[in-house]
Amino acid sequence: MSYFLHQRSLHNILSNPNPTSPNDSPTDPPKSTSIFSKTTLLLLLSLLVILGVFAPWIGTPQSLFTASRSSQSRWKDYTLAEAAANVAKNGTVIVCAVSQPYLPFLNNWLISIVRQRRHEQVLVIAEDYATLYEVNGKWPGHAVLVPPAPDAQTAHKFGSQGFFNFTSRRPRHLLQILELGYNVMYNDVDMVWLADPFSYLQGKHDVYFTDDMAAVKPLNHSHDLPPPGKKGRTYICSCMIYLRPTSGAKLVLKKWIEELQAQPWSRAKKSNDQPAFNWALNKTAGQVDLYLLPQAAFPTGGLYFKNQTWVQETKGMHAIIHNNYITGFDKKIKRFHDFGLWLVDEHAKESPLGR
Ligand SMILES: *[C@@H]1O[C@H](CO)[C@@H](O)[C@H](O)[C@H]1NC(C)=O
Ligand SMILES: *[C@@H]1O[C@H](CO)[C@@H](O)[C@H](O)[C@H]1NC(C)=O
Ligand SMILES: *[C@@H]1O[C@H](CO)[C@@H](O)[C@H](O)[C@H]1NC(C)=O
Ligand SMILES: *[C@@H]1O[C@H](CO)[C@@H](O)[C@H](O)[C@H]1NC(C)=O
Ligand SMILES: *[C@@H]1O[C@H](CO)[C@@H](O)[C@H](O)[C@H]1NC(C)=O
Repeated sequence: MSYFLHQRSLHNILSNPNPTSPNDSPTDPPKSTSIFSKTTLLLLLSLLVILGVFAPWIGTPQSLFTASRSSQSRWKDYTLAEAAANVAKNGTVIVCAVSQPYLPFLNNWLISIVRQRRHEQVLVIAEDYATLYEVNGKWPGHAVLVPPAPDAQTAHKFGSQGFFNFTSRRPRHLLQILELGYNVMYNDVDMVWLADPFSYLQGKHDVYFTDDMAAVKPLNHSHDLPPPGKKGRTYICSCMIYLRPTSGAKLVLKKWIEELQAQPWSRAKKSNDQPAFNWALNKTAGQVDLYLLPQAAFPTGGLYFKNQTWVQETKGMHAIIHNNYITGFDKKIKRFHDFGLWLVDEHAKESPLGR
């Protein structure tokens, strides 16, 4: 989830219920409307009670009507094993992990996956109950929450401890899915599919990943783990990973978890989960069958959005575009927009969440 900066708090959603009607003004209550005012007050009170009962779920107006209390308790106890069994096709699931502020990106990513007819395999790992109920309300069974939910009110600013805590859960989720016996593809949601990535998962390797380095590679570059860079480690992206349920893939995830524990977040380093993933690859490379995916199909945002010459040269070869090498929620949306990759506005109907 590299370079994801998001600072918009949930404040707007929480502090902006339906504005009170001018009729409710207490300064001048004419007799004829006082009964109406009482009724309105009662309605408002019951609304507050409903909101209170439904906390921590407070979503968009649509979800007020699509979710009911019983369906919520149903999803509250929905397990990863049940969810994976429900969505897996051919023993494979496509997962992402999102909290509520990222729902527009989730929607955008999903539209691009629908176009490749892979959406039925998608499992959204909700990092808060709002997301769990919102997604399952519109698309039953496609979201699961692995307890305990991280603090939903934390703005996941890139580099913060909250962000680190949030992303640190990822290797655990993935390991759990492998232990259940599934192949799993993980994606950050600031991605857009232009082609089906599964055709690139050649051979029977344990772990497939992409390079986050922006330097242009030859089209026939090696599929081995690249040599370490300046910091003594590689810059493999933790944003897009495909794993088979092999002992090798599980070893990488266990090492990743260990590395995250060994090098916890610190104010000085402001790290995310990516260095730990790279150290895990470095330390397990001898025992695990690793596969670097082709750059032309899986370019980092640092290349795709910054080198139009390269984009022209490799036209028709792109599979997944990652909107990284930029920070800020709004900047990311604008860049997707500028490159014709923000599908949410005009194609919302294509999304399982947009109907
Ligand atoms: C299902 O898996 C088989 C064997 O791995 C593969 O050949 C086939 O293409 C897969 N089908 C889909 C729809 O992914
Ligand atoms: C992150 O996790 C650590 C260790 O579990 C915890 O002490 C800390 O309060 C968490 N911080 C945030 C901002 O979530
Ligand atoms: C890629 O192609 C060039 C030129 O055809 C060749 O010299 C080089 O060895 C190739 N590299 C790999 C990794 O196959
Ligand atoms: C692992 O990192 C060390 C230190 O940078 C480096 O010397 C070594 O070549 C790396 N191993 C692999 C397999 O990349
Ligand atoms: C941009 O791409 C072209 C074509 O692949 C390449 O020759 C050039 O070095 C790239 N520029 C930068 C700044 O990486």
